[in-house]
Amino acid sequence: MSGIVIVGAQWGDEGKGKITDLLAERADAVIRFQGGNNAGHTIVRNGETWKLHLMPSGILYPGKTCVIGNGVVIDPKVLTDELDELRRREVDTSGLRISANAHMIMPYHMMLDDAGEARLGKLKIGTTRRGIGPAYADKASRIGIRVQDLLDEKILKKKIVAALEPKRLALRPYARDPRLDLQAITEEYLAYGRRLSEYIADTTSLVWEKLDKGDIVIFEGAQGALLDIDHGTYPFVTSSNPIAAAACIGSGVGPKDIDEVWGIAKAYSTRVGSGPFPTELHDDIGEDLRRRGGEFGTTTGRSRRIGWLDLVALKYAARLNSLTALVVTKLDVLSGLDTIKVCVRYRGEDGAEFDTFPYHQTVLHHATGDYVELPGWSEDISDARSEDELPENARAYLRYMEEAIGVPIVLISVGPGREQTMWTEAGLATAPGQTVAAG
Ligand code: IMP
Repeated sequence: MSGIVIVGAQWGDEGKGKITDLLAERADAVIRFQGGNNAGHTIVRNGETWKLHLMPSGILYPGKTCVIGNGVVIDPKVLTDELDELRRREVDTSGLRISANAHMIMPYHMMLDDAGEARLGKLKIGTTRRGIGPAYADKASRIGIRVQDLLDEKILKKKIVAALEPKRLALRPYARDPRLDLQAITEEYLAYGRRLSEYIADTTSLVWEKLDKGDIVIFEGAQGALLDIDHGTYPFVTSSNPIAAAACIGSGVGPKDIDEVWGIAKAYSTRVGSGPFPTELHDDIGEDLRRRGGEFGTTTGRSRRIGWLDLVALKYAARLNSLTALVVTKLDVLSGLDTIKVCVRYRGEDGAEFDTFPYHQTVLHHATGDYVELPGWSEDISDARSEDELPENARAYLRYMEEAIGVPIVLISVGPGREQTMWTEAGLATAPGQTVAAG
């Protein structure tokens, strides 16, 4: 195994950061391939908590090659703040490399994100307001500012003027905002360029080199399959492709460079922002799971919507991503429930049944779940370190999930700490550096 992609199999926040961090120990490089600082990865190491938004999750290993790929959109203020914080906590960041072709989030992107949401009113997407959508829109319109532009004052200024021109009307409410002053933006972004220059690189060639040597490269996704701009619950999605195919585009490799695709799924479902969520819970159980699971956004602090496990959506995600393995996180949060519901099909407004994910937005908006009820368990499982330490009903829940999705579960997480993890038999047989994992 050389190229391994890690993706969210639900609506994001599945715990990809923890799993990437865990695998990164045995990898030679970690590369982020899409999204931006709309993502939030929490990693707990030796009781210390790290909240990262842009940094690849391997950054906590000294000197590990950590790449921000061409498919990412970068807010340079967030990136430099993260660098400062890591240095303050004495983390070696020398392995960081930033694609010269990645696009920048500019101050006007954040304003347009805010303005867009305000304009939509009740129909708002519930974005993270980090300027992600407007930055990707400029990229597609070919008026984006790229990392390499920060290294040339003349080019940078010219490109900012060109990017601002078609936005005049939309930015009118901000006309007097000092953040829109051309000279000020240019100077601020040139300063970021100077600050980041030592990390800027041709990251595509770098990743090729690693793969050609047989090094283990982890492609770290952000968000999740159901937030994919093409395949998710459009328009209530993010502006990039969080599915595995984007690992190729967002880093510059071909599909044959990918050997494994690991989907990360919570043992239940969550979603932040607006949009269809067929298994959503509006009762005390949902409230309880939110509190016990600490389901509040790493990036915006918003409380996450909670729902039962949705096998219709998960099967869809498994196929979209060609998942080769599944990682189940937050199993511990389900402890203490008498019965646990699992959604096995959707029911439309007119009673129609859907065993597969419906493409039509109207169906999806009105869909509710048909459930099977599985027996719960009362034990606290956060100290379990191997599958046989799990209660019988917890193991049965996992088997049910695995069989329905048709993808082997390789790893189970029962808490935020890196030690609160157990490999399954299938995991021990396939994971990189499995003997280390087994020990
Ligand atoms: P945007 O990515 O900020 O444009 O937000 C679009 C949608 O994606 C909103 O529903 C956000 O809540 C959601 N979203 C974006 N990033 C994440 C994430 O990392 N986790 C969960 N939801 C996210």
